[in-house]
Amino acid sequence: MAQVTVASPTNIAVIKYWGKRDSKLNLPINSSVSITINQADLRTVTTVTASKDFPTDRLWLNGEEEDIEKNKRVQKVFAMVRGRSSKWAGMKVHVVSINNFPTAAGLASSAAGYAALSFALAKLYDLEDAYPGDLSTIARVGSGSACRSLAGGFVAWDMGDKADGTDSCARQVAPANHWPELQVLILVVSDKKKAVSSTAGMQTAVDTSPLLAHRAAKVVPARMVEMEAAYHKKDFAAFAQLAMQDSNQFHSTCLDTYPPIFYLNDVSRAVIQFVHAFNTACGEVRLGYTFDAGPNAVLLVLKQHAPQALAAVLAHFPPERGAEAGYVNRPAMRQAALAVGPPAGLAAAFPLEPQVGVIKYVYHTDVGPGATILDSSEALADSAGMPLMTAPPPRPAASLSGALELCSSSRLQLAAGVLAAAAVLAVAARKK
Ligand code: PMV
Repeated sequence: MAQVTVASPTNIAVIKYWGKRDSKLNLPINSSVSITINQADLRTVTTVTASKDFPTDRLWLNGEEEDIEKNKRVQKVFAMVRGRSSKWAGMKVHVVSINNFPTAAGLASSAAGYAALSFALAKLYDLEDAYPGDLSTIARVGSGSACRSLAGGFVAWDMGDKADGTDSCARQVAPANHWPELQVLILVVSDKKKAVSSTAGMQTAVDTSPLLAHRAAKVVPARMVEMEAAYHKKDFAAFAQLAMQDSNQFHSTCLDTYPPIFYLNDVSRAVIQFVHAFNTACGEVRLGYTFDAGPNAVLLVLKQHAPQALAAVLAHFPPERGAEAGYVNRPAMRQAALAVGPPAGLAAAFPLEPQVGVIKYVYHTDVGPGATILDSSEALADSAGMPLMTAPPPRPAASLSGALELCSSSRLQLAAGVLAAAAVLAVAARKK
């Protein structure tokens, strides 16, 4: 028996990946770059166990067993790993994985999930990078954006041009400690599963959007260079402006898709207006935004302006009465925000009435390291590879939902939350 437990962060792209030139290998039509989010706030933990006593490979996602045979993306990752190493030849593997944040809601849960799975299997099978970024190609076949979650800090995914995908891999542009002042506010507008999966949305976009083709060929290459330069120089205004423009262009390609796809909603659009009003009130770019394939806003801000930005969010998008306590994941930050208050002039620049309860909760977080090996004391499985009853993951702000997704065809949502997950694990353990 051999066992490895890892944690992997999620990541938020500031130049977006959207569109595949090869859907089997997840080869993109453009390069992309992201910040790795601090795992203390959003992460996937995965334990893999190999044993000659296991008759089949098995997989538990947030306490529920998946039919691994039907999960093509997981199968692809297993096949790639086993194709590279004869270690544990003939042995089967059990995978137990848990997310501490909502799934498939535009918070890049599949990025954290597939990065964790690939990293854990690579460690179990003693795989090493044959060249820089080599192992990120395994995460990439699970979910494209997952390749960027293996490393910390600021991470590019170079599109490459080889047909076998060996040059389409992740590259760390700068480590997490390069720009420690850069912080993030994630405004969770919805933690429901998105209506159109990234895979389906991208395919229709590639097939129908001339704007997407133009973006990939003409816009992104220059933006990648500018974005990396802005990050290296820690030029917040350039960084934030590029991120906003790229998010807007990505969502424009969604509208240009036929039939169109809408990931943003009215709340997302109000947040966009709010950010521009905030910057007008401050007389400089102090806040940026980016939106993935969902309505949730990811705001970019420097540490010295984070309390002021959060104060403005609290003033214009306050929680429902009674929901204040869990609204921000770091209570001290909420106190700091209330002490500072929003910038003078914001109310005039953003004349919309406060929208109560439209944002469910806020994560205040920052940039962190990539996938890491955890101590065996944090294993999610016992020595027989069966899911353990674990302490509940940190409660994500006002949400009780703990869910993990590794496959678009069979996403799991434990709507009853962490307590239900524990109950399911207990039942599963009793059945075995
Ligand atoms: O990796 P996927 O298939 O979940 O696609 C991710 C797409 C975006 O999140 C919208 C952009 C990105 O680069 O992460």
